[in-house]
Amino acid sequence: MNQSLITIAYIAASALFILSLGGLSQQSTARRGNLYGILGMLIALVATVFAMKDGNYAVLAAALIPGLVIGAILAARVQMTSMPELVAMLHSFVGLAAVLVGFATYLGPHKAMSSGEHTLHLVEIFLGVAIGSVTFTGSVIAFLKLRGTIGGKPFMLPGRHLINLIMLIATVALGAAFLMSPDTAAGQWPLIIATVLTGILGVHFIMAIGGADMPVVVSMLNSYSGWAAAAAGFMLGNDLLIITGALVGASGAILSYIMCQGMNRSFVSVMLGGFGTEGGTPSTATGEPQGEVHSVEAAGAAELLLDAKKIIIVPGYGLAVAQAQHSLAEVCKILKEKGVEIKFAIHPVAGRLPGHMNVLLAEANIPYDIVFEMDEVNDDFPTTDVAWVIGANDIVNPSAMDDPGSPIAGMPVLHVWESRTCIVMKRGMASGYAGVDNPLFYKDNTLMLFGDAKKVVDEILTAMRG
Ligand code: TAP
Repeated sequence: MNQSLITIAYIAASALFILSLGGLSQQSTARRGNLYGILGMLIALVATVFAMKDGNYAVLAAALIPGLVIGAILAARVQMTSMPELVAMLHSFVGLAAVLVGFATYLGPHKAMSSGEHTLHLVEIFLGVAIGSVTFTGSVIAFLKLRGTIGGKPFMLPGRHLINLIMLIATVALGAAFLMSPDTAAGQWPLIIATVLTGILGVHFIMAIGGADMPVVVSMLNSYSGWAAAAAGFMLGNDLLIITGALVGASGAILSYIMCQGMNRSFVSVMLGGFGTEGGTPSTATGEPQGEVHSVEAAGAAELLLDAKKIIIVPGYGLAVAQAQHSLAEVCKILKEKGVEIKFAIHPVAGRLPGHMNVLLAEANIPYDIVFEMDEVNDDFPTTDVAWVIGANDIVNPSAMDDPGSPIAGMPVLHVWESRTCIVMKRGMASGYAGVDNPLFYKDNTLMLFGDAKKVVDEILTAMRG
């Protein structure tokens, strides 16, 4: 294909990626954003295939076709709750690709360059390989932790910050040795040792981060994978890869920052590790309630909901696990027909990945105009008859505001306890992801409705229809 056509295709793909990111920032435009992304990637792939000079198309097909098939099968099969581990796995591939591209570029034939250009080229290779190696091993550990293959608890060696610092300094020294090597035979050794060292750094870094912080880490690795891709773009002289890598790198960094704000954790404290327990464990040694609990049955809850004028529904991780969103949409329909005002309140870190609840509600065709962000809806609770909490826990925990000693102190939460009645639906008294007890469950205006969210919402639906 003509070079200018390829350049035009690359510019079009870059513009579509930017439009895609813009579209994905809002629920109502997310589908369009996704389409732009798909189209951009299709154009990028086709242009890259045609840009190959004297290419071996058989080798390309052997790599591309199984990749396409495996990707399509995995994406079709993955559950929303397993999305972070799939994303972590995909990041590891980007990291590995950057390492392989770095070695191939260094050891393979390259065109004549001035000495300045050559040094710059070596810096690109070293940075690409080092960032790629950290991303690869870090993402594999993140994948294994999210999958539960290795424990979610932080693994902390004594003096771990010092160990990390020594490894970083050693990597910089190896970089200097690499740049000063007279030829590739000598230069390959510092590069190989740095690859191994940064690989160990990735493992050590991520092992120290606790389960509750893993989604932030996945988003940070997303950012690293973007920078690794951008570095590979520089090595290959591919502008599109540089632009795409920079977009992924910057958006991953912004997302990590937003998630840290939603959890009231500083980015540095997340990266230094050591916080977080395994999710879903009872908050007390015995798992027993820490006060008196008032409970209600599905039929009683149905009556309360039908009698209400204004309801705010707060979905959380349990709604996703139970897949109760479709039954919930049916309940909402009945309530709307009865003239009840319904709003959904979405906490920025509800569930296990950004936008988790929005995706679930969109799946069940809940209209976007009744779905509100935390800041838009938090002042409405005092004038609300029923706050209906479904499978949420940490995001409605008042101790984040009242107890400075709580591990989630300072995290912004939804003020559900300010409503006239609060119905909390979950299976038992277990804590949420942060592993802390929730005083909401013992408040006088809280009614606990125990059971699997899908089963209980179905029971409420039956009671309402009856
Ligand atoms: P959680 O605090 O994890 O609470 C979920 C609750 O759902 C659990 O207490 C569990 O109690 C209940 N549950 C589980 N399965 C259920 C089922 N089948 N039916 C009914 N209930 C069920 O969830 P949340 O309130 O959504 O908060 C999210 C947490 O994840 C926060 O701590 C947040 O910081 C963390 N986090 C999220 C993100 C993102 S981006 N979303 C990122 C990092 C961290 P039972 O076992 O008693 O049923």
